[in-house]
Amino acid sequence: MTNKKKSITVFAPATVANIACGFDVFGMAIDHIGDEVTIIPNDKNILQIKSISGDNKKLTKDVNENIVAISIQALLDALKSNQGFDIYLKKKMPLSSGLGSSAASSVAGLFAANEFFGKPFTRAELVPFAMEGERIACGTAHADNVAPSLMGGIILCRNVQHVEVISLPVPTQLYAVVIHPHYELKTSDSRKALPKKISIKIASHQWANTAGVVHALHSQDYALLGRCVTDHVAEPFRSKLIPHFDAAKSAALEAGALACSISGSGPSIFALAKGATNAKKIAEAMKSVYKKSKMGADVYISKINNKGVKIIK
Ligand code: HSE
Repeated sequence: MTNKKKSITVFAPATVANIACGFDVFGMAIDHIGDEVTIIPNDKNILQIKSISGDNKKLTKDVNENIVAISIQALLDALKSNQGFDIYLKKKMPLSSGLGSSAASSVAGLFAANEFFGKPFTRAELVPFAMEGERIACGTAHADNVAPSLMGGIILCRNVQHVEVISLPVPTQLYAVVIHPHYELKTSDSRKALPKKISIKIASHQWANTAGVVHALHSQDYALLGRCVTDHVAEPFRSKLIPHFDAAKSAALEAGALACSISGSGPSIFALAKGATNAKKIAEAMKSVYKKSKMGADVYISKINNKGVKIIK
């Protein structure tokens, strides 16, 4: 059953992927920023990107390369439908920021199309379609941005071949502070900086911490969460690509952050905080690092967004 409505507008939130120790495995949704997509059914049996705003003309309208169109096409293929849509994309978050910008676009378009067809797929079932957009955006189809943007909360992506995504409990006083330095870092470049191999010692340390994060979230143990949200695999390599990372991390931890690391593939940096007052202090401390260095940066303070993508019109 298709939705008779003429147009559907959807907002999909930004996300913090990895959450330090869970490379390609953990992700969480945040408030305030994300992308908006409107789709209007057409009778031409084709997808058309009608407009893109907020991208400084960096994104393509070619439907074979635009990730919103690619994700919607993956859904149409699964439904064996040749329905056409006019697509309008409003970027309401920075590109190449480490905040899941491409994922938010894919998720918003996909969710709108799924709504049009009367919701044949659940949010979790939409993950593989949105991952097709990620494959184009950065060369690998990881789910740690698209899954939390679709489902909200904190997500464990246990398997991406046969997608299995698990919602983890979110401690009630948990806040994310995210700073986005005005510097672009492409996920594909940031992935190239990763080591090809890691030692058993480092791997063991890291997987102990991922298990610790799961327990900490279930038991609302903020101190344990802080001890586990560390990254011995990607951060040592990627942090060198992020201006003032070490100073920002030190400032966050000194101001009381439970943990601080790279958001997704960077350059954004996230810190975890217990309570709004701490989160504000941490945000000020991180902001002052970039102010002193005369580098522009935006800071967002957010509870974990438990809702995920939503229809706004
Ligand atoms: N897990 C991915 C990475 C997220 O760190 O490369 C990219 O947004």
